[in-house]
Amino acid sequence: MNYKIALIGGDGIGPEVLFSAKKVLEEISKIYGHTFDFREVLAGGAAIDFCGEPLPKKSIDVCKESDAVLLGAVGGTKWDALPGDKRPEKAILGLRKQLNLFANIRPARINPALINYSPLRQDIVSKGIDLVFVRELTGGIYYGERGRKTKNGTVQAFDTEVYSEKEVLRIGKYAFELAMKRRKNLVSVDKANVLESSRLWRETMHALSKGYPEVIYSDMLVDNASMQLVRNPSQFDVLVTANMFGDILSDEASVLTGSIGLLPSASVRDDSFGLYEPIHGSAPDIAGQEKANPIAAILSAAMMLRLSFSLFDEALCIENAVDNALSDGCRTADISKNGEIGIGTSEMTEKIISYLGKK
Ligand code: IPM
Ligand code: MG
Repeated sequence: MNYKIALIGGDGIGPEVLFSAKKVLEEISKIYGHTFDFREVLAGGAAIDFCGEPLPKKSIDVCKESDAVLLGAVGGTKWDALPGDKRPEKAILGLRKQLNLFANIRPARINPALINYSPLRQDIVSKGIDLVFVRELTGGIYYGERGRKTKNGTVQAFDTEVYSEKEVLRIGKYAFELAMKRRKNLVSVDKANVLESSRLWRETMHALSKGYPEVIYSDMLVDNASMQLVRNPSQFDVLVTANMFGDILSDEASVLTGSIGLLPSASVRDDSFGLYEPIHGSAPDIAGQEKANPIAAILSAAMMLRLSFSLFDEALCIENAVDNALSDGCRTADISKNGEIGIGTSEMTEKIISYLGKK
C-alpha cells in the first residue's frame, strides 16, 4: 500500500527526532513492502523565520491532502517575544482546529526495564503503570474568547473555558469506546465543584455512561487526580479530560514512566486521519547535540501505523523493537543514571532499527 505522510519537523529537537522516526518508517517499508510518500512541511518557528507566519496555508493544504501528519515539536525561546497569535504554538493550535482533531490520545506505560528511572518509589511503580489520557483538543480555554481590557485604571486579561454538550458527548464517546477495548475503567476528570463548564461536562458524561454498563465509570476532581497519579497510578486505565487539564496531567503522568522523552501521542477525529507527535516539547537547550531521545517520535510513528493505517503488525514491530532496545540497556541521556553518558539520538535510532528485522 501507498501512504502519504506530511512531516513537520518544527523547532529545537523536533527535526532530529522526526528524522529518527522517518528512518524507522523507511526500514518498516522495506520489511513489509509499503510505500511511504513523505512530504516535508514548514510550521512553527521554522515557518515564522522562513515566511513570517507560524502556519502557512500551503502547510495546511499539504496536511489535508495527506493520510496522516507526523510532527516533531514547535516553539522556542527565540520567538517568546512575539504576540500570542504570531507564536510558533499557534501552528499546532491551528493544525488541531483546522484539521478538526478533537481527541488527543496520550498513553503512559512503564517499561519494566525503566522502573528504576521513575521518580516514584519502587513499591508504587512496581504495581505497573498502563494508562491513557483522552484529552479534548479543539475546545475549552484554549479556544474560548480571550483578551484584555482596562477596568478601574488597571489592565485585565481573560481567557474563557467554554464547552458545548455536543463537544463533551463527542470526546466522551471516544473515551468510553476506548475503555471498552481496554480494562473497562474510565475516570472523567473535572472541576465540577467550581466550574459551570465542568458541571455540564460531568452531567453529560453521566448520561453517556448509561450506554456503557460494562465500563466502571467515576468522576474525579482535577486536584485530586493530580495527587492520585503520583499516589497510586496503577488505579487508572482511561482518563478523559478537558483540554487544559489534559495538557497538565499528561505531562505529570509521562514523567512517572521514566522520562517525557519516551511518550507518543495521537490527535485524531472520526475518520482515519490523524496527527502524531511526541508529548515532549522542542527542548531548544539540547537541540542539535545528539542528546534528544528519539523514542517518543518513533512510538508516535507506530501509533500512526496502527490508528491511521491499520498496520497492526508493523506498529507492534516498532514497539517491540523499542522495548527490546530498552531491555538490552540502550539509554539516551534523559534515561541515564549516575552520570552515565548514554548514547546519542542517532545511535539509539540505529539500535532500534537493528531490532526491527528480528520480528
Ligand atoms: C502539548 C503542548 C501544546 C499544548 C502547546 C505547545 C500549545 O503543551 O501538546 O501538550 O498546550 O497543547
Ligand atoms: Mg503540553
